[in-house]
Amino acid sequence: MKKIITTIMLSVLLGSTTVLAAQQSSVVQADIDDFQGYYKQKFPKLELDDFSKGSYAIDNDNMLQFKAIMEMPPFEDYLDKGEALWNTPFKNGKTYSSCFSGADETIRTQFPRWNATKGKVDTLEQAIIECRIQNKERKIKTGKAELAWISAYLTKIAEGQTINVIVPEGDAKALAAYEDGKKFFYAKRGQLNLSCADCHVDNAGKRIRGNRLSPALGHITHFPVWRGSWAKKNRGDGFGTIQLRYGGCNKQVRAKPFKRHKSEYNNLEFFHTIMSNGMKISGIEYRR
Ligand code: HEC
Repeated sequence: MKKIITTIMLSVLLGSTTVLAAQQSSVVQADIDDFQGYYKQKFPKLELDDFSKGSYAIDNDNMLQFKAIMEMPPFEDYLDKGEALWNTPFKNGKTYSSCFSGADETIRTQFPRWNATKGKVDTLEQAIIECRIQNKERKIKTGKAELAWISAYLTKIAEGQTINVIVPEGDAKALAAYEDGKKFFYAKRGQLNLSCADCHVDNAGKRIRGNRLSPALGHITHFPVWRGSWAKKNRGDGFGTIQLRYGGCNKQVRAKPFKRHKSEYNNLEFFHTIMSNGMKISGIEYRR
C-alpha cells in the first residue's frame, strides 16, 4: 500500500513538473516562427518534414542517388554495433538505460535539454559519456566511433518522434544559453568571415564547391549522420555526431573548431535543435 501511495505521489509530482517545463519561452517561439516561416517562403513546395532531407529535398538528381543508397544502406553493421553496445551491461551489471528516464525510443528527443540544477544545456552524447563515468567504465572518443554508434541507434529507434526542445518561460539562465547559441549561429568567423547563417540560411539551396547547401531547418533530424566522406577517412565507419559536423563546418571557413561538449557547441546545439521544433526524427540518413 505504501508503495502504491508513493507511486501515485511521484506521478503527481512528475506530472506537475512536466506541465511547468512544457511552457516554451514566448521570445523563443517567435524566433521559431520566423525561422521556419523564412524557409517555407523560400521553398514553398516543401512540407516541414521534407527539410530533413537537406539539400536532397531541393535537388532531384541528388535525391535519386540518395534514395538508391538508402535502399542498401552502408551503415547497418555499425547500427547493430550501437544496439549491441547499448544493451550490453556494464561491469557492475547496470545498463545505459538505467541512466535515462522513459522508454528508450523517447531518449533522443529528450535532448538537448536545459538542466536547471546545473545551469547548463545537457546533450545526449554528453549524457552517454556521463553514464559511463558514473558506472566506472573507460573513457571513449567523442564525435565518432562507439559514442556515435550508440547515439545513432537511439536516433534510429526514435524515428517519427517529434522534436520539441523547451526554453522554460521565465528562466533567464536558460534563455541566456539559447541566446548564446543563437549568437554563435549568426556570428561571422574564420578567415572566410562567414556565419552558419550565411551558408545555411541566406544561401541555402545554392551551390558551393560542388555541394548544394542544405537549409539549417531540419539539420538535426538525422544525427548522428552517416557520411560517405567520413567513411573514407575512418576505415569504413561513416558515423559522426552533430558536434563533429560543427567542427567540420568551422574548419570550412578556416576557423578553429571548439572543443566538443563545452558550452559553445552545446548552446549552439540547443538553438539549432529548437529551430526544428515540430519536425520528426527521420532516422539514420546517408550524406555525401
Ligand atoms: C562556407 C559555408 C558553410 C558554413 C559557413 C557552414 N557550413 Fe555547414 N555545411 C556546408 C556544406 C557545404 C555542407 C555539406 C552540404 C550540406 O549538407 O549542406 C554543410 C553541412 C552541414 C551540416 C550537415 C547537414 C546534414 O544533413 O548532414 C550541418 C548540421 C551543418 N552544416 C551545420 C553548420 C553550422 C551549425 C554552421 C556554423 C557553425 C555551419 N554549418 C557553417 C557549408 C557551410
